[in-house]
Amino acid sequence: MSKDTLTVTDNRTGQTFEIRITDSTVRAMDFRQMKVSDDDFGLMVYDPAFTNTATCRSTITFIDGDNAILEYRGYPINVLAEKCTFLEVAYLIVYGELPTQDQLDEWTRDITYHTYIHENIKKFMDGFNHDANAMGMLVGMLGALSTFYPDAANIADPKSRELQTRRLIAKMPTIAAYAYRHSLGLPYVYPDNDLTFSGNLLSMLWKLIEPKYKPNPILERAMDVLFILHADHEQNCSANIMRAVGSSHADPYSAAAAATAGLYGPLHGGANAAVIKMLTEIGDKKRVPQYVKRFKSGENPLMGFGHRIYKKYDPRAEIIKQTAEAVFEVTGRNPLLDIALELERIALEDEYFIKRRLYPNVDFYSGIIYQAMGLPVDMFPVLFAVGRTPGWMAQWREMIVDKEQKIARPRQIYVGARQRRFVPIAKRSASRKAAE
Ligand code: CMC
Repeated sequence: MSKDTLTVTDNRTGQTFEIRITDSTVRAMDFRQMKVSDDDFGLMVYDPAFTNTATCRSTITFIDGDNAILEYRGYPINVLAEKCTFLEVAYLIVYGELPTQDQLDEWTRDITYHTYIHENIKKFMDGFNHDANAMGMLVGMLGALSTFYPDAANIADPKSRELQTRRLIAKMPTIAAYAYRHSLGLPYVYPDNDLTFSGNLLSMLWKLIEPKYKPNPILERAMDVLFILHADHEQNCSANIMRAVGSSHADPYSAAAAATAGLYGPLHGGANAAVIKMLTEIGDKKRVPQYVKRFKSGENPLMGFGHRIYKKYDPRAEIIKQTAEAVFEVTGRNPLLDIALELERIALEDEYFIKRRLYPNVDFYSGIIYQAMGLPVDMFPVLFAVGRTPGWMAQWREMIVDKEQKIARPRQIYVGARQRRFVPIAKRSASRKAAE
Protein backbone atom coordinates (compact mmCIF):
# COMPACT_ATOMS: atom_id res chain seq x y z
CA MET A 1 0.00 0.00 0.00
CA SER A 2 1.33 3.46 -0.83
CA LYS A 3 2.37 5.67 2.02
CA ASP A 4 1.64 9.41 2.02
CA THR A 5 5.25 10.38 2.58
CA LEU A 6 8.27 11.47 0.62
CA THR A 7 11.63 9.89 1.38
CA VAL A 8 14.42 12.38 0.90
CA THR A 9 18.10 11.56 1.08
CA ASP A 10 20.39 14.51 1.69
CA ASN A 11 23.43 13.48 -0.34
CA ARG A 12 25.57 16.03 1.49
CA THR A 13 25.25 14.01 4.70
CA GLY A 14 23.79 10.70 3.58
CA GLN A 15 20.90 11.21 6.01
CA THR A 16 17.41 10.14 4.99
CA PHE A 17 14.22 11.95 6.02
CA GLU A 18 10.59 10.98 5.74
CA ILE A 19 8.42 13.97 4.86
CA ARG A 20 4.65 13.85 5.28
CA ILE A 21 2.47 14.54 2.22
CA THR A 22 -0.93 16.07 2.97
CA ASP A 23 -3.28 17.27 0.23
CA SER A 24 -0.53 16.55 -2.35
CA THR A 25 1.64 19.05 -0.52
CA VAL A 26 4.79 18.91 1.59
CA ARG A 27 5.51 21.46 4.30
CA ALA A 28 8.46 23.73 3.59
CA MET A 29 9.35 23.74 7.30
CA ASP A 30 9.94 19.96 7.17
CA PHE A 31 13.02 20.66 5.05
CA ARG A 32 14.60 22.86 7.69
CA GLN A 33 15.76 19.81 9.64
CA MET A 34 18.13 18.94 6.77
CA LYS A 35 21.45 20.42 7.84
CA VAL A 36 25.10 19.79 7.10
CA SER A 37 26.20 20.85 10.60
CA ASP A 38 24.60 21.84 13.89
CA ASP A 39 25.00 25.55 13.18
CA ASP A 40 23.61 25.24 9.64
CA PHE A 41 20.31 27.16 9.26
CA GLY A 42 18.73 24.22 7.42
CA LEU A 43 17.40 23.73 3.92
CA MET A 44 15.02 26.35 2.51
CA VAL A 45 12.73 26.13 -0.50
CA TYR A 46 13.10 28.76 -3.23
CA ASP A 47 10.03 29.88 -5.15
CA PRO A 48 10.16 33.40 -6.56
CA ALA A 49 6.62 34.56 -7.48
CA PHE A 50 5.08 31.62 -5.56
CA THR A 51 4.70 29.54 -8.70
CA ASN A 52 4.44 26.30 -6.74
CA THR A 53 3.84 27.35 -3.14
CA ALA A 54 0.52 27.15 -1.30
CA THR A 55 0.38 29.90 1.33
CA CYS A 56 -2.92 29.00 2.96
CA ARG A 57 -5.73 26.48 3.21
CA SER A 58 -8.88 28.03 1.81
CA THR A 59 -12.54 27.14 1.31
CA ILE A 60 -13.47 30.16 -0.79
CA THR A 61 -12.62 29.57 -4.45
CA PHE A 62 -11.66 26.46 -6.38
CA ILE A 63 -9.89 26.65 -9.74
CA ASP A 64 -8.88 23.71 -11.90
CA GLY A 65 -6.86 25.51 -14.56
CA ASP A 66 -6.34 22.43 -16.74
CA ASN A 67 -10.06 21.91 -17.06
CA ALA A 68 -11.18 25.56 -16.96
CA ILE A 69 -13.25 25.09 -13.81
CA LEU A 70 -13.98 27.98 -11.45
CA GLU A 71 -16.21 27.57 -8.40
CA TYR A 72 -17.05 29.91 -5.54
CA ARG A 73 -17.67 27.89 -2.36
CA GLY A 74 -18.32 24.88 -4.59
CA TYR A 75 -20.83 26.50 -6.97
CA PRO A 76 -19.83 26.65 -10.66
CA ILE A 77 -19.26 30.20 -11.92
CA ASN A 78 -21.61 29.85 -14.90
CA VAL A 79 -24.52 28.85 -12.64
CA LEU A 80 -23.90 31.78 -10.29
CA ALA A 81 -23.53 34.23 -13.19
CA GLU A 82 -26.82 33.02 -14.66
CA LYS A 83 -28.97 32.73 -11.56
CA CYS A 84 -27.69 35.15 -8.90
CA THR A 85 -27.32 38.82 -8.21
CA PHE A 86 -23.91 40.20 -7.28
CA LEU A 87 -24.91 40.77 -3.65
CA GLU A 88 -26.14 37.16 -3.41
CA VAL A 89 -22.74 35.97 -4.67
CA ALA A 90 -20.93 38.42 -2.38
CA TYR A 91 -22.81 36.88 0.57
CA LEU A 92 -21.86 33.40 -0.61
CA ILE A 93 -18.21 34.35 -0.91
CA VAL A 94 -18.07 36.03 2.49
CA TYR A 95 -20.17 33.50 4.48
CA GLY A 96 -19.76 30.27 2.53
CA GLU A 97 -23.48 29.64 1.91
CA LEU A 98 -26.05 31.08 -0.47
CA PRO A 99 -28.36 33.33 1.54
CA THR A 100 -32.01 32.62 2.30
CA GLN A 101 -34.39 35.39 1.19
CA ASP A 102 -34.38 36.85 4.73
CA GLN A 103 -30.60 36.76 4.93
CA LEU A 104 -30.28 38.36 1.51
CA ASP A 105 -32.79 41.09 2.44
CA GLU A 106 -30.87 41.92 5.60
CA TRP A 107 -27.51 41.86 3.80
CA THR A 108 -28.85 44.06 1.00
CA ARG A 109 -30.34 46.49 3.53
CA ASP A 110 -27.04 46.69 5.40
CA ILE A 111 -24.94 47.20 2.27
CA THR A 112 -27.37 49.84 1.02
CA TYR A 113 -27.24 51.60 4.39
CA HIS A 114 -23.44 51.87 4.21
CA THR A 115 -23.11 53.25 0.66
CA TYR A 116 -22.68 56.84 1.82
CA ILE A 117 -19.19 58.13 2.49
CA HIS A 118 -18.13 60.88 4.88
CA GLU A 119 -18.43 64.33 3.30
CA ASN A 120 -14.76 65.01 4.05
CA ILE A 121 -13.79 62.20 1.67
CA LYS A 122 -14.98 64.47 -1.14
CA LYS A 123 -12.36 67.00 -0.11
CA PHE A 124 -9.63 64.39 -0.60
CA MET A 125 -11.08 63.64 -4.00
CA ASP A 126 -11.12 67.33 -4.89
CA GLY A 127 -7.37 67.45 -4.26
CA PHE A 128 -6.66 65.26 -7.28
CA ASN A 129 -5.99 66.76 -10.68
CA HIS A 130 -8.83 66.36 -13.16
CA ASP A 131 -6.67 63.91 -15.15
CA ALA A 132 -5.61 61.79 -12.17
CA ASN A 133 -5.86 58.08 -12.88
CA ALA A 134 -9.07 56.74 -11.32
CA MET A 135 -7.23 53.73 -9.89
CA GLY A 136 -4.71 56.03 -8.20
CA MET A 137 -7.63 57.95 -6.69
CA LEU A 138 -9.20 54.71 -5.45
CA VAL A 139 -5.95 53.62 -3.76
CA GLY A 140 -5.73 56.99 -2.02
CA MET A 141 -9.38 57.03 -0.98
CA LEU A 142 -9.25 53.55 0.52
CA GLY A 143 -6.18 54.48 2.54
CA ALA A 144 -8.02 57.59 3.71
CA LEU A 145 -11.10 55.54 4.72
CA SER A 146 -9.08 53.79 7.44
CA THR A 147 -8.69 57.15 9.20
CA PHE A 148 -12.46 57.63 9.22
CA TYR A 149 -13.05 54.24 10.84
CA PRO A 150 -10.46 53.81 13.57
CA ASP A 151 -12.66 51.03 15.01
CA ALA A 152 -11.49 48.95 12.03
CA ALA A 153 -8.19 48.44 13.85
CA ASN A 154 -10.07 45.98 16.13
CA ILE A 155 -9.40 43.16 13.74
CA ALA A 156 -9.77 40.55 16.52
CA ASP A 157 -13.38 41.61 17.13
CA PRO A 158 -15.77 39.60 14.91
CA LYS A 159 -18.41 42.37 15.12
CA SER A 160 -15.91 44.91 13.80
CA ARG A 161 -14.94 42.55 10.99
CA GLU A 162 -18.63 42.23 10.04
CA LEU A 163 -19.09 45.98 10.01
CA GLN A 164 -15.98 46.70 7.94
CA THR A 165 -16.95 43.97 5.45
CA ARG A 166 -20.31 45.62 4.83
CA ARG A 167 -18.85 49.11 4.78
CA LEU A 168 -16.14 48.27 2.27
CA ILE A 169 -18.38 46.38 -0.16
CA ALA A 170 -20.93 49.22 0.09
CA LYS A 171 -18.56 52.17 -0.28
CA MET A 172 -16.48 50.91 -3.19
CA PRO A 173 -19.06 51.84 -5.88
CA THR A 174 -19.50 55.27 -4.30
CA ILE A 175 -15.77 56.00 -4.36
CA ALA A 176 -15.49 54.54 -7.88
CA ALA A 177 -18.30 56.77 -9.15
CA TYR A 178 -16.90 59.84 -7.37
CA ALA A 179 -13.52 59.26 -9.05
CA TYR A 180 -15.28 59.15 -12.43
CA ARG A 181 -17.36 62.28 -11.77
CA HIS A 182 -14.29 64.11 -10.50
CA SER A 183 -12.39 63.39 -13.72
CA LEU A 184 -15.27 64.92 -15.69
CA GLY A 185 -15.72 67.89 -13.38
CA LEU A 186 -19.29 66.80 -12.69
CA PRO A 187 -20.99 67.09 -9.29
CA TYR A 188 -20.97 63.93 -7.20
CA VAL A 189 -24.22 61.97 -7.15
CA TYR A 190 -25.29 60.56 -3.79
CA PRO A 191 -26.23 56.89 -3.56
CA ASP A 192 -29.84 56.04 -4.32
CA ASN A 193 -31.01 53.49 -1.77
CA ASP A 194 -34.00 52.44 -3.90
CA LEU A 195 -31.73 50.96 -6.55
CA THR A 196 -29.84 47.67 -6.72
CA PHE A 197 -26.09 47.52 -6.09
CA SER A 198 -25.29 47.85 -9.80
CA GLY A 199 -28.25 50.13 -10.58
CA ASN A 200 -27.08 52.53 -7.89
CA LEU A 201 -23.56 52.51 -9.34
CA LEU A 202 -24.92 53.39 -12.79
CA SER A 203 -26.96 56.18 -11.21
CA MET A 204 -23.91 57.60 -9.40
CA LEU A 205 -21.93 57.43 -12.65
CA TRP A 206 -24.43 58.84 -15.08
CA LYS A 207 -27.25 60.74 -13.37
CA LEU A 208 -27.57 64.30 -14.63
CA ILE A 209 -30.59 66.53 -14.02
CA GLU A 210 -33.30 63.88 -13.95
CA PRO A 211 -34.89 63.66 -10.46
CA LYS A 212 -34.66 59.88 -10.45
CA TYR A 213 -32.18 57.88 -12.54
CA LYS A 214 -33.63 54.75 -14.13
CA PRO A 215 -30.85 52.31 -14.98
CA ASN A 216 -31.18 50.34 -18.19
CA PRO A 217 -32.00 46.80 -16.92
CA ILE A 218 -29.70 45.13 -19.49
CA LEU A 219 -26.70 47.29 -18.53
CA GLU A 220 -27.56 46.88 -14.84
CA ARG A 221 -27.61 43.10 -15.20
CA ALA A 222 -24.40 43.13 -17.31
CA MET A 223 -22.64 45.08 -14.56
CA ASP A 224 -23.88 42.59 -11.97
CA VAL A 225 -22.60 39.66 -14.07
CA LEU A 226 -19.20 41.32 -14.53
CA PHE A 227 -18.97 41.87 -10.77
CA ILE A 228 -19.91 38.22 -10.12
CA LEU A 229 -17.16 37.07 -12.50
CA HIS A 230 -14.60 39.25 -10.73
CA ALA A 231 -15.73 38.55 -7.16
CA ASP A 232 -12.87 36.25 -6.18
CA HIS A 233 -10.07 34.29 -7.79
CA GLU A 234 -8.25 32.55 -4.95
CA GLN A 235 -4.59 33.49 -4.31
CA ASN A 236 -4.03 36.00 -7.11
CA CYS A 237 -1.65 38.94 -6.74
CA SER A 238 -4.09 41.31 -5.00
CA ALA A 239 -5.64 38.64 -2.73
CA ASN A 240 -2.15 37.68 -1.68
CA ILE A 241 -1.42 41.35 -0.90
CA MET A 242 -4.67 41.65 1.08
CA ARG A 243 -3.62 38.68 3.18
CA ALA A 244 0.02 39.77 3.51
CA VAL A 245 -0.83 43.32 4.63
CA GLY A 246 -3.64 42.01 6.85
CA SER A 247 -1.20 39.54 8.43
CA SER A 248 0.59 42.48 10.07
CA HIS A 249 -2.80 43.24 11.71
CA ALA A 250 -3.23 46.44 9.69
CA ASP A 251 -6.90 47.45 9.34
CA PRO A 252 -8.82 46.10 6.31
CA TYR A 253 -9.09 49.51 4.57
CA SER A 254 -5.31 49.83 4.51
CA ALA A 255 -5.02 46.23 3.33
CA ALA A 256 -7.65 46.86 0.62
CA ALA A 257 -5.76 50.00 -0.49
CA ALA A 258 -2.64 47.85 -0.90
CA ALA A 259 -4.60 45.13 -2.71
CA THR A 260 -6.03 47.78 -5.05
CA ALA A 261 -2.48 48.99 -5.76
CA GLY A 262 -1.61 45.41 -6.73
CA LEU A 263 -4.64 45.21 -8.97
CA TYR A 264 -3.63 48.47 -10.68
CA GLY A 265 -0.75 46.84 -12.60
CA PRO A 266 -1.25 45.86 -16.26
CA LEU A 267 -0.34 42.23 -15.56
CA HIS A 268 -3.28 41.99 -13.13
CA GLY A 269 -6.47 44.11 -13.11
CA GLY A 270 -4.95 46.84 -15.26
CA ALA A 271 -4.91 44.36 -18.15
CA ASN A 272 -8.51 45.23 -19.13
CA ALA A 273 -7.44 48.83 -19.81
CA ALA A 274 -4.23 47.68 -21.53
CA VAL A 275 -6.28 45.44 -23.85
CA ILE A 276 -8.29 48.42 -25.10
CA LYS A 277 -5.13 50.45 -25.67
CA MET A 278 -3.64 47.50 -27.57
CA LEU A 279 -6.76 46.93 -29.71
CA THR A 280 -6.99 50.65 -30.46
CA GLU A 281 -3.35 50.68 -31.55
CA ILE A 282 -3.89 47.65 -33.81
CA GLY A 283 -6.83 49.58 -35.25
CA ASP A 284 -7.72 47.19 -38.07
CA LYS A 285 -8.29 43.45 -38.41
CA LYS A 286 -5.78 43.38 -41.27
CA ARG A 287 -2.98 44.46 -38.95
CA VAL A 288 -3.57 41.62 -36.47
CA PRO A 289 -1.01 39.16 -37.98
CA GLN A 290 1.85 41.67 -37.77
CA TYR A 291 0.99 42.40 -34.12
CA VAL A 292 0.78 38.70 -33.27
CA LYS A 293 4.37 38.39 -34.56
CA ARG A 294 5.39 41.14 -32.12
CA PHE A 295 3.64 39.52 -29.19
CA LYS A 296 5.59 36.35 -29.86
CA SER A 297 8.94 38.12 -30.01
CA GLY A 298 8.76 38.82 -26.27
CA GLU A 299 8.64 42.59 -26.93
CA ASN A 300 5.22 42.94 -25.28
CA PRO A 301 2.78 40.30 -24.09
CA LEU A 302 -0.57 39.97 -25.83
CA MET A 303 -2.66 41.68 -23.17
CA GLY A 304 -5.70 39.76 -21.94
CA PHE A 305 -4.05 36.46 -22.83
CA GLY A 306 -2.39 33.89 -20.61
CA HIS A 307 -2.86 33.03 -16.97
CA ARG A 308 -0.79 31.55 -14.17
CA ILE A 309 -3.50 28.98 -13.41
CA TYR A 310 -5.72 28.58 -16.48
CA LYS A 311 -4.19 26.47 -19.22
CA LYS A 312 -7.49 26.42 -21.11
CA TYR A 313 -10.02 29.08 -22.05
CA ASP A 314 -10.78 31.16 -18.93
CA PRO A 315 -14.43 30.26 -18.13
CA ARG A 316 -15.07 33.89 -17.18
CA ALA A 317 -14.04 35.08 -20.65
CA GLU A 318 -16.68 32.77 -22.22
CA ILE A 319 -19.44 34.33 -20.07
CA ILE A 320 -18.18 37.86 -20.74
CA LYS A 321 -18.35 37.25 -24.48
CA GLN A 322 -22.05 36.34 -24.14
CA THR A 323 -22.67 39.36 -21.91
CA ALA A 324 -21.06 41.61 -24.54
CA GLU A 325 -23.69 40.57 -27.10
CA ALA A 326 -26.49 41.64 -24.72
CA VAL A 327 -24.81 44.96 -23.96
CA PHE A 328 -24.25 45.73 -27.65
CA GLU A 329 -28.03 45.40 -28.21
CA VAL A 330 -28.31 48.54 -26.08
CA THR A 331 -25.10 50.43 -26.81
CA GLY A 332 -24.37 49.38 -30.37
CA ARG A 333 -21.46 47.11 -31.26
CA ASN A 334 -18.00 48.13 -30.14
CA PRO A 335 -15.91 47.93 -33.33
CA LEU A 336 -12.93 46.75 -31.27
CA LEU A 337 -14.75 43.45 -30.79
CA ASP A 338 -14.00 42.44 -34.39
CA ILE A 339 -10.29 43.07 -33.86
CA ALA A 340 -10.40 41.13 -30.59
CA LEU A 341 -12.15 38.17 -32.22
CA GLU A 342 -9.62 38.13 -35.06
CA LEU A 343 -6.76 38.36 -32.56
CA GLU A 344 -8.20 35.46 -30.59
CA ARG A 345 -8.71 33.40 -33.77
CA ILE A 346 -5.18 33.90 -35.05
CA ALA A 347 -3.53 33.47 -31.65
CA LEU A 348 -5.42 30.26 -30.89
CA GLU A 349 -4.18 28.75 -34.19
CA ASP A 350 -0.60 29.86 -33.63
CA GLU A 351 2.03 27.34 -32.51
CA TYR A 352 3.53 29.83 -30.00
CA PHE A 353 0.25 30.26 -28.11
CA ILE A 354 -0.77 26.59 -28.48
CA LYS A 355 2.55 25.34 -27.09
CA ARG A 356 2.37 27.67 -24.09
CA ARG A 357 -1.35 27.06 -23.58
CA LEU A 358 -2.21 30.75 -23.71
CA TYR A 359 -5.91 31.59 -23.97
CA PRO A 360 -8.02 34.73 -23.48
CA ASN A 361 -8.46 35.59 -19.81
CA VAL A 362 -11.18 37.59 -18.04
CA ASP A 363 -9.64 40.90 -19.09
CA PHE A 364 -9.67 40.24 -22.83
CA TYR A 365 -13.35 41.09 -23.36
CA SER A 366 -14.44 42.98 -20.22
CA GLY A 367 -12.95 46.30 -21.35
CA ILE A 368 -14.82 46.07 -24.64
CA ILE A 369 -18.08 46.03 -22.67
CA TYR A 370 -17.09 48.88 -20.37
CA GLN A 371 -15.99 50.94 -23.36
CA ALA A 372 -19.26 50.26 -25.19
CA MET A 373 -21.06 51.56 -22.09
CA GLY A 374 -19.10 54.79 -22.48
CA LEU A 375 -16.64 54.39 -19.62
CA PRO A 376 -13.04 55.60 -19.95
CA VAL A 377 -10.23 53.00 -19.75
CA ASP A 378 -8.98 54.33 -16.41
CA MET A 379 -12.24 53.17 -14.87
CA PHE A 380 -11.97 49.53 -15.98
CA PRO A 381 -9.65 48.32 -13.20
CA VAL A 382 -11.68 50.39 -10.73
CA LEU A 383 -14.76 48.36 -11.65
CA PHE A 384 -12.69 45.19 -11.31
CA ALA A 385 -11.86 46.36 -7.75
CA VAL A 386 -15.55 46.98 -6.95
CA GLY A 387 -16.36 43.41 -7.96
CA ARG A 388 -13.31 41.95 -6.20
CA THR A 389 -14.01 43.52 -2.80
CA PRO A 390 -16.10 40.62 -1.38
CA GLY A 391 -13.26 38.29 -2.37
CA TRP A 392 -10.62 40.44 -0.68
CA MET A 393 -12.75 40.63 2.48
CA ALA A 394 -13.39 36.89 2.49
CA GLN A 395 -9.67 36.18 2.02
CA TRP A 396 -8.82 38.61 4.82
CA ARG A 397 -11.44 37.16 7.20
CA GLU A 398 -10.27 33.62 6.49
CA MET A 399 -6.67 34.63 7.15
CA ILE A 400 -7.49 36.41 10.43
CA VAL A 401 -9.13 33.34 12.01
CA ASP A 402 -6.66 30.80 10.58
CA LYS A 403 -4.58 29.56 13.52
CA GLU A 404 -1.76 28.51 11.19
CA GLN A 405 -1.25 32.04 9.83
CA LYS A 406 1.35 34.44 11.18
CA ILE A 407 2.79 37.65 9.83
CA ALA A 408 3.72 36.97 6.19
CA ARG A 409 7.48 37.03 6.05
CA PRO A 410 9.27 35.14 3.27
CA ARG A 411 12.93 34.14 3.41
CA GLN A 412 15.58 35.22 0.95
CA ILE A 413 18.80 33.85 -0.43
CA TYR A 414 21.27 36.60 0.30
CA VAL A 415 23.71 36.97 -2.59
CA GLY A 416 25.21 40.38 -1.72
CA ALA A 417 28.53 41.38 -0.15
CA ARG A 418 29.37 40.79 3.53
CA GLN A 419 31.59 42.35 6.20
CA ARG A 420 33.02 45.11 4.00
CA ARG A 421 35.57 47.56 5.28
CA PHE A 422 34.15 51.09 5.68
CA VAL A 423 35.78 53.68 3.37
CA PRO A 424 35.61 57.39 4.34
CA ILE A 425 33.86 59.53 1.73
CA ALA A 426 37.03 61.31 0.62
CA LYS A 427 38.61 58.00 -0.30
CA ARG A 428 35.69 56.42 -2.17
CA SER A 429 35.87 55.78 -5.89
CA ALA A 430 32.78 55.94 -8.11
CA SER A 431 32.31 52.22 -8.53
CA ARG A 432 28.51 52.12 -8.30
CA LYS A 433 26.94 50.53 -11.35
CA ALA A 434 24.53 52.72 -13.30
CA ALA A 435 20.99 52.26 -12.01
CA GLU A 436 19.00 49.75 -14.01
N1 CMC B 1 1.61 37.06 -24.65
C1 CMC B 1 2.72 36.46 -25.13
N2 CMC B 1 3.42 35.53 -24.45
C2 CMC B 1 2.97 35.22 -23.21
C3 CMC B 1 1.83 35.80 -22.66
C4 CMC B 1 1.14 36.75 -23.43
N3 CMC B 1 0.04 37.36 -22.94
N4 CMC B 1 1.63 35.29 -21.43
C5 CMC B 1 2.60 34.42 -21.21
N5 CMC B 1 3.42 34.36 -22.30
C6 CMC B 1 4.58 33.47 -22.49
C7 CMC B 1 5.75 33.90 -21.61
O1 CMC B 1 6.59 34.81 -22.29
C8 CMC B 1 6.41 32.57 -21.36
O2 CMC B 1 7.12 32.22 -22.52
P1 CMC B 1 8.50 31.37 -22.41
O3 CMC B 1 8.10 30.06 -21.79
O4 CMC B 1 8.99 31.27 -23.81
O5 CMC B 1 9.41 32.17 -21.52
C9 CMC B 1 5.25 31.60 -21.23
O6 CMC B 1 4.19 32.18 -22.00
C10 CMC B 1 4.78 31.36 -19.81
O7 CMC B 1 4.43 32.61 -19.26
P2 CMC B 1 4.79 33.09 -17.81
O8 CMC B 1 5.30 34.49 -17.89
O9 CMC B 1 5.64 32.08 -17.10
O10 CMC B 1 3.36 33.06 -17.13
P3 CMC B 1 2.96 33.69 -15.75
O11 CMC B 1 2.08 32.72 -15.10
O12 CMC B 1 4.16 34.14 -14.97
O13 CMC B 1 2.17 35.03 -16.20
C11 CMC B 1 0.46 36.48 -16.84
C12 CMC B 1 0.81 35.12 -16.25
C13 CMC B 1 -1.07 36.64 -16.77
C14 CMC B 1 1.12 37.59 -16.04
C15 CMC B 1 0.92 36.53 -18.31
O14 CMC B 1 0.26 35.53 -19.04
C16 CMC B 1 0.70 37.89 -18.96
O15 CMC B 1 1.56 38.75 -18.86
N6 CMC B 1 -0.49 38.09 -19.65
C17 CMC B 1 -0.82 39.39 -20.19
C18 CMC B 1 -1.38 40.29 -19.08
C19 CMC B 1 -2.78 39.88 -18.68
O16 CMC B 1 -3.64 39.62 -19.51
N7 CMC B 1 -3.04 39.86 -17.36
C20 CMC B 1 -4.36 39.53 -16.80
C21 CMC B 1 -4.33 38.21 -16.09
S1 CMC B 1 -5.95 37.53 -15.72
C22 CMC B 1 -6.76 38.63 -14.68
C23 CMC B 1 -6.02 39.13 -13.52
O17 CMC B 1 -5.23 38.44 -12.87
O18 CMC B 1 -6.23 40.28 -13.21
